[in-house]
Amino acid sequence: MKNQNVIVTGGSSGIGRATALEFAQKGANVLITGRRLSSLEEVANQHENIVALVADSADPASANLIVEKALTLWGKIDVLVNNAGAGLVSPLEAATEKQINDLFAINVTASSLLATAAIPHLRASKGSIVNVTSAIGHKPSPHLSHYGASKAALEYLTRAWSLELAPDIRVNAVSPGPTDSGALTGMMGLSEEQAQAVQEQEKDMIPLKRRGVPEDISRWIVMLADPETAWVTGQVIDVDGGFAI
Ligand SMILES: NC(=O)c1ccc[n+]([C@@H]2O[C@H](COP(=O)([O-])OP(=O)(O)OC[C@H]3O[C@@H](n4cnc5c(N)ncnc54)[C@H](OP(=O)(O)O)[C@@H]3O)[C@@H](O)[C@H]2O)c1
Repeated sequence: MKNQNVIVTGGSSGIGRATALEFAQKGANVLITGRRLSSLEEVANQHENIVALVADSADPASANLIVEKALTLWGKIDVLVNNAGAGLVSPLEAATEKQINDLFAINVTASSLLATAAIPHLRASKGSIVNVTSAIGHKPSPHLSHYGASKAALEYLTRAWSLELAPDIRVNAVSPGPTDSGALTGMMGLSEEQAQAVQEQEKDMIPLKRRGVPEDISRWIVMLADPETAWVTGQVIDVDGGFAI
């Protein structure tokens, strides 16, 4: 991945963190984003190729900010990983307009705006986009309906953009199953006890009988972005221990 310049949104924790480190270890330059500077800096301090930028994907202005920072650093962008995500665990009747809009603002709108801002530069480099979706996007689950719908939308966007942007830019997605990260107590808003109960329950639902670790997922994100896999586009790859089957 030498000379590859990569943007990873939500690069300060979990799947995004592992992805940033793996790209950097393979020689790529990586710009990571997130809302908290301290956790971004913790990751950037792990490898000299990683640069941190505080950017809240909920802010539509963040798309241009991120692309401009990458261009200032490197003058070229090869890979965009739309990884930052929002979650919502709620019965339908309890979900508010604001919660639903906030969820889609991150998972759908922010990913779209960042892709749009990056397109001219990805065209110039013949680069690629990797979206991080979710097994729940095609395995319906109670109380996760809006989260799943937002990830189903991102799957659709992946396939549609792959046609729209071919032959210049490849667009793929990795669809993780239950993976150890900050997600349950972070974006999903669960307490420690609730998170532990969910982890136990999910383990039994995974044919390979273990939850994922971030490196299970990052390996596939990096592989799909690698120019050596350049004949793959429009794919949503389940990396989930069989969970979604
Ligand atoms: N873990 C799973 O089981 C699982 C399963 C399926 C799909 N996924 C997907 O995987 C992706 C990564 O999640 P994860 O599991 O690695 O969770 P995580 O450990 O909580 O990491 C989320 C990352 O996104 C950043 N982030 C959250 N909201 C943001 C915003 N508004 N703007 C910018 N950055 C933001 C967080 O940093 P700050 O909080 O500092 O902003 C953090 O770096 C998400 O898209 C999620 O939907 C996860």
